[in-house]
Amino acid sequence: MDRPLHIAKAQPAPPCSVVIFGASGDLAKRKLIPALYNLLACGQDVHPQNFAVLGFARRPMTLEEFRESAREAASRFSRLELEQNCWNQFATRLGYLSGLDEPDGFSRLKAQLEQTEAAHNLPPNRVYYLSIPPEAVPECVERLDTAGLIAKPGAANFTRVVVEKPIGTDLASALEINRILHGHFDESQIFRIDHYLGKETVQNLLVLRFANAIFERMWGARNVDHVQITVAESEGVGSRAMYYDPAGALRDMVQNHILQLLALVAMEPPVGLDEQAIREAKLNVLRALRPIGPGDAHAMTVRARYSPGIVEGESVRGYLEEHGISPRSRTETFVALKLWIDNWRWAGVPFYVRTGKRMPARESLICVQFKDVPQIRFNRAAQLPPNALTIRIQPDEGFSFEVLAKQPGLDVAVRPVRMNLRYESEFSGPSPDAYERLLLDVMAGDHTLFVSAAFVEKSWEFVQSILDQWQQDPAMPLYQYPAGTVGPDAADEMIHGDGRAWRDL
Ligand code: BG6
Repeated sequence: MDRPLHIAKAQPAPPCSVVIFGASGDLAKRKLIPALYNLLACGQDVHPQNFAVLGFARRPMTLEEFRESAREAASRFSRLELEQNCWNQFATRLGYLSGLDEPDGFSRLKAQLEQTEAAHNLPPNRVYYLSIPPEAVPECVERLDTAGLIAKPGAANFTRVVVEKPIGTDLASALEINRILHGHFDESQIFRIDHYLGKETVQNLLVLRFANAIFERMWGARNVDHVQITVAESEGVGSRAMYYDPAGALRDMVQNHILQLLALVAMEPPVGLDEQAIREAKLNVLRALRPIGPGDAHAMTVRARYSPGIVEGESVRGYLEEHGISPRSRTETFVALKLWIDNWRWAGVPFYVRTGKRMPARESLICVQFKDVPQIRFNRAAQLPPNALTIRIQPDEGFSFEVLAKQPGLDVAVRPVRMNLRYESEFSGPSPDAYERLLLDVMAGDHTLFVSAAFVEKSWEFVQSILDQWQQDPAMPLYQYPAGTVGPDAADEMIHGDGRAWRDL
């Protein structure tokens, strides 16, 4: 039974133009251009038969210069090696326009888009990818509208807008961004990206849970002792101080990626596989998430920042010594939380989450730990370790199920063993990058892997209450952990206090 069963074929995308706002920036180079190229190179049956990609940015550049910088970016960051014929085919569809910040920039964009569409015989189906700083988004959508570049929802040809995180910096600003977006676009035209949702292993969470009878029956308070979600990074803040310092780990990772993972792990079976059913089931998890209300932050949250240390054998600076960080910064680079989901399935089951920069390694995993084996038979002499399902989001994608087995020999000795699936050895070929999946879905108009306005608002509501306490309570500690370690002792104490421990990284 090795042949895959096709449940839903990837939807072919209709002919369209993708306009990348901020096309000379980092995201465009590292992710968007390589993803669009890879889609063309390996997704012939789903990639639009006819397409154009138009870069739009401030910096003046000739078309040749833009194509050359795109080629460089693609050869550096594409997961597939550049194949000359395929690249040529892609490059002829690449256009560029500067003047994003100029008064007539958007009317020139309109003219160039119309020209491109006429030249390639393309209908005016348009995707606007806003790879620009969040504070520039409101003005950009305003100007798109004024220039007559937004078709009404339900019109013969579509206009879609893609917005990157962060969506806001707090609850009020997130509400405001959604309000502005809704002033110009219908929700059905808006695609809010959380790239974690495009990762293969994250998509597999739904299959693992709902295509296997065995897990779903065990998934809940009757059998599960607790759940852990860890997103550890070995990288520091790097060159992103300007963005990261006002944000910190709670805003940067928890409000989006981690709450998405939590929702996928904890959601009820959706009534269908359509976008509405899945988004609704996920939103219900946030509705049931117990707020960390006034006075709870001390017991249920730990925040910390890295001090100098050694990561992967190299000495690294502390956060306060990083380039562009003020010595008075109070920003956290690590967060651990203890969460409760107040519904029938999860009543009484704690969810422990932690994320941090400059931890020992890059490792994201979800661990579902089952209840202890009753103290009878094999378990009488010593408490045996409970079963655990560990889902490795990255790297070494896969999952393992820990069970107990008899060690061969004349004695009766029992030890935990792993039933292990590694994507690398089980499936041939590398997985598509998250941005390939997500860009294709935008072109095909599928919202399943995108974040709804309601999810953004609920997640900020939850995070805002923690931010308020951290800000208003002078006694709330900001711990330190040496770079290269798993975080501060306080994070261990939080979980040890419940008689549990973090999984080893
Ligand atoms: C981004 C955060 O959203 O996700 C970064 O802003 C973080 O700080 C990154 O490093 C992690 O993504 P990935 O795919 O490398 O786990």
